[in-house]
Amino acid sequence: MKNYARNGLFAVALAMALAHGAMNMNASDADLAALKLVASRRPLVIGHRGYCQVAPENTLPSFKLAMSAGADLVELDYHHTKDGKLIVIHDGELDRTTDATNRWQEKKIKVETKTAAEIQSLDAGSWFDAKYAGTKIPLLEEALDAIQAGGVTLIERKGGDPGACIKLLRDKGLINKLIVQSFDWQYLRAFHEQEPEQVLGVLGPAARLVDGTKPSGIPKALSARWLDELRKTGAKVAVWNQEVTKESVHLAHDRGLKVWVYTINDLETANKLLDMGVDGLITNNTPLIRKAIALRSEKPA
Ligand code: G3P
Ligand code: CA
Repeated sequence: MKNYARNGLFAVALAMALAHGAMNMNASDADLAALKLVASRRPLVIGHRGYCQVAPENTLPSFKLAMSAGADLVELDYHHTKDGKLIVIHDGELDRTTDATNRWQEKKIKVETKTAAEIQSLDAGSWFDAKYAGTKIPLLEEALDAIQAGGVTLIERKGGDPGACIKLLRDKGLINKLIVQSFDWQYLRAFHEQEPEQVLGVLGPAARLVDGTKPSGIPKALSARWLDELRKTGAKVAVWNQEVTKESVHLAHDRGLKVWVYTINDLETANKLLDMGVDGLITNNTPLIRKAIALRSEKPA
């Protein structure tokens, strides 16, 4: 079945599901942005850590630039701080993207050993460019306020249990207005059990399987074996590295899953993946991938 036909069927099925669900919905539930994006018939462009080629990753300037550049979703990473706050940073250590090493005269400073106030006192911009001196690491809540004002977030959990993230999303009325993903499939399963409505993405290959074990001996490319395992999480999107094929994308679609691929920063690879029928590309260069997709669309009559 051709991509557009398959995606069309998915969209119809989703519309029926939404209509069915609407009977039990509040008016405020009508804008289920995540479901709409997952059902999209065109490939999505996802800004990796914002627009991190032109601004320090995982900061508010990076997120705002990704949105201005037309990203359908803005990806970010979060960890837990010493005092239990959710804070937006990729690495488990503060060294690479802040001035923590200079400030505290230590190396390999773990995020979980510092409070949110301590971490937010750091400069997370100068390492990238003097222009961004003084840029702070945002709390997840602050990042969501900035992105969800006009966009949709793709949250990646790097550490901690799902409870605090679920509470934050519920408190802010953001369930299903964004998407949550992780390489930890046990985290995703636990998230799904506690908040079944939330759309999840499964990052692969897995760091940890649904049963808590580390995968061993499974070739890393996307395959029927991975797909059958990842469906146990309850997720709707397989978010994989470039080890996908036309066949594995087809197998995912047959199982009702979308396929997004990370991290794609050149036109040749983007086109190769789009030819395979992938549904989204995660990129450090949102305008470039938007261009790749636009050039493939049909010419106006
Ligand atoms: O969203 C996919 C990608 O962000 C996963 O890798 O290491 O950049 O978080 P990483
Ligand atoms: Ca990430």
